[in-house]
Amino acid sequence: MSEESVRPLERGLAVLRALAVGDQVRAGDLVRATGLARSTVDRVVATLVHLGYVREHGQELRLTPRLMELGNAYLAASGLSGEVAARTARLADDLDESVSLAVPDGDGVRFVTQAARRRAMSVAFHIGDLLPPERCAPGALFADAWDEERWAAWRARVASGPARSSFPALPPGPAPADIPDLAARVARSRQTGWALDDQLIEPGLIAVAVPVRDTAGRTRYALSAVSHTSRHTAQGLAQAMLPRLRAEAGELEGLAAGAPEPPADVAPTPGHAFETERATDPVAAKAELGSGFLQSLARGLAVLRALGDARGDGLPLTALAAATGLSRATARRCLHTLELAGYAAHDGRLYRPLPRVLELGHAALSRLTFAEIAEPHVRELTERVHQSASVTVLDGADILYVARAATVRVMSVRITLGTRFPAYATAMGRVLLAGLPEQERERLLRQAPPRALTRRTVTDQGELARILERTAADGYATADQELEEGLRSVAVPVRDASGQVVAALNIARHAGTGPLAETRDALLPALRGTAAAIEADLHIAARFQAVRLP
Ligand code: PHB
Repeated sequence: MSEESVRPLERGLAVLRALAVGDQVRAGDLVRATGLARSTVDRVVATLVHLGYVREHGQELRLTPRLMELGNAYLAASGLSGEVAARTARLADDLDESVSLAVPDGDGVRFVTQAARRRAMSVAFHIGDLLPPERCAPGALFADAWDEERWAAWRARVASGPARSSFPALPPGPAPADIPDLAARVARSRQTGWALDDQLIEPGLIAVAVPVRDTAGRTRYALSAVSHTSRHTAQGLAQAMLPRLRAEAGELEGLAAGAPEPPADVAPTPGHAFETERATDPVAAKAELGSGFLQSLARGLAVLRALGDARGDGLPLTALAAATGLSRATARRCLHTLELAGYAAHDGRLYRPLPRVLELGHAALSRLTFAEIAEPHVRELTERVHQSASVTVLDGADILYVARAATVRVMSVRITLGTRFPAYATAMGRVLLAGLPEQERERLLRQAPPRALTRRTVTDQGELARILERTAADGYATADQELEEGLRSVAVPVRDASGQVVAALNIARHAGTGPLAETRDALLPALRGTAAAIEADLHIAARFQAVRLP
């Protein structure tokens, strides 16, 4: 059957790719990078902004953490569930070395799990990063399965010169001079069952990898342990790590083999079509943005997200159509377009997402810290309410500023990132303390007993305990001139996906003349809206990897 591809979806994917590899990208850069007309780029961008995947920062266009839900769809479907991530994290703890899982993607090697020991000396790769096979341990394992065509494509790529632009994760600078022949490495690892990276990426960085096979015996993942020549020689690393790596690979093979087959008729999971409030209704979006909204781009991305429910061999068209609310014909055209772009595959009746989805910004977005995720939301809040807003985390008995957008200065001291205040005297501190188990709360207050910073600071332990109880129940806290005369603050919690309070968001303003309740009622809705927006991004970004706090 000859199929038509969905042009707006094709174009949207091209724009996302250009945004993913570019730096400080503007609409004009997208015109140059994609060859699309300016008016087309503008409509694609307007649609992506509306879907919450792109944010305008002045003239600059930036990918948002929400976009990671596309890569998450691949990670979820490929069975890289919490259990696999937890196992790799545990192995990294046991070995005291970084541990990763990678999959083949074309002739490249793409990371899908990373449990990094943070050591200063080397590059660290993230979920979504792509490496050339000739410069990493997994490459020798994956190339064993290549056919002549793939070898030819790889040779052509290597002959065409340095790989930097196709592999942005590689450290800058020239490749090592003496990279061993890939074919020889493949032959060796076929005999030994493992592969080595002896400083193929950069001086000092070494890795050993073993295959994790599927039930048909094909290499599905490479499981690597990564270290540095200051800790091991490459051979020494292999000797030390191989027994544990092999045992773990066996466990992972068991997990994959034991994965439940998808039921023959997968029940549609509603809610995939447009998960977010802003993007709930494509018809409303169309009405709002008119011809500026590319409905078929939005639909195609909804199909890509819906592929996240695929398990085992994949999902049938009927299930995907039902999950997105699209007709079968529309869903099939979207899938066909995604297949042409290398983001999905089908095998008989069943569709599944492919690791290349991760090229849509996942690697760069995986590097965001919590502070970087929060910052644009804090800025947006300040612009909306014309008051200074901040995000803090608890550090001992102090609050520590990690994101802030100030309007006029209301504090006598300048608050910068890294500023600390005692938690007990601030609204944000109360929100953070209220999120702790009671014993921990009490321990912190005993450790740094409250003292009066103004005439109004609450220092009585009993009264503070009551305030914290109420904060936990109400989901917000206030502080009225307890840290500094004339300063009033209202704060709400920011929670991780498990409901744990990880940060606090506040608005601070002059105490003024009105009652505190009035300030609180005026600010709470905006604060809660912004906290929810930060949480939404955080939960998507943290689904398959730890997001660094602060
Ligand atoms: C990594 O996980 O960072 C890694 C794995 C294999 C390599 C190099 C780095 O060859």
